[in-house]
Amino acid sequence: MGANYYRSALARVHHEGFAGHADACAPGILARLAPVRERGGLVLELGCGSGALTRHLVAAGHRVVATDASPAMVALAREAVPGAEAVRRLTLPDDPLPAADAVVSVGHVLSYLPDVPSVARALRAVAAAVRPGGVVAVDLLDRAYRAARAGKQPVAAFGGDWAVLIAFASPDPETYVRDIATFMRNADGTWRRDDERHVNVLVDAAEVSGRLAAEGLVDVEVARGFDERQVMEEGLVAIIGVRRHAVKTGRGFEPRAVTNSS
Ligand SMILES: C[S@@+](CC[C@H](N)C(=O)[O-])C[C@H]1O[C@@H](n2cnc3c(N)ncnc32)[C@H](O)[C@@H]1O
Repeated sequence: MGANYYRSALARVHHEGFAGHADACAPGILARLAPVRERGGLVLELGCGSGALTRHLVAAGHRVVATDASPAMVALAREAVPGAEAVRRLTLPDDPLPAADAVVSVGHVLSYLPDVPSVARALRAVAAAVRPGGVVAVDLLDRAYRAARAGKQPVAAFGGDWAVLIAFASPDPETYVRDIATFMRNADGTWRRDDERHVNVLVDAAEVSGRLAAEGLVDVEVARGFDERQVMEEGLVAIIGVRRHAVKTGRGFEPRAVTNSS
């Protein structure tokens, strides 16, 4: 399960070499979260990794509780983003989520869950955690990812004292696999190897976003990015929604949709 992904070697490789996706998501997410920041709301981040998005949120003035299943990632994020309110372990889909004014997650964290029912359970928990007027902004892998990546050859990347090799496979329409070998240089110049197999579940994003709507979120969008400038890799989709605000009417408190412009 989640706790076995991103042991210390791969966590450091991700931290040093793979922040690009979170950097690209940050402007759109920050724009969507502007009303939350204005009212001093709390942002809950799921699967924060080593803090690649967290640091943008904190730099923009957000109060952030950043969470991840991997102890190695949590340790890196604590060091990298000391301005977060808290950085702690939280493993989806069953750990309880604290109430928040926004729930964000980038880097297809939900796709690490073992199957579609687990993704649905996690999304129900996300929808329940977000307070009235709050925002949900997450990305995950749609089933289209499989065709988009068909035939993708293995890739290699190198850092100062590490190397990583990643091979790809999709054994069935709901599964995308990365076999990842990391090599870390020891003090004596030799290399130590660690292997991780990342098994991601591919979901029907339209169906999944419908579940958020069923849980009381409105203006639910499935998009190629968190704003109109971002075009994510095909099959990686952003799902965005807001929880209705309760407003006082003649008949008591009634739900009202809140958007960025309100
Ligand atoms: C591809 S990384 C993205 C990390 C970070 N959000 C970023 O953009 O750099 C996926 C993250 O999801 C976390 N993760 C995997 N399974 C999880 C689970 N069941 N619950 C919470 N986090 C999980 C991993 O530990 C990892 O940090």
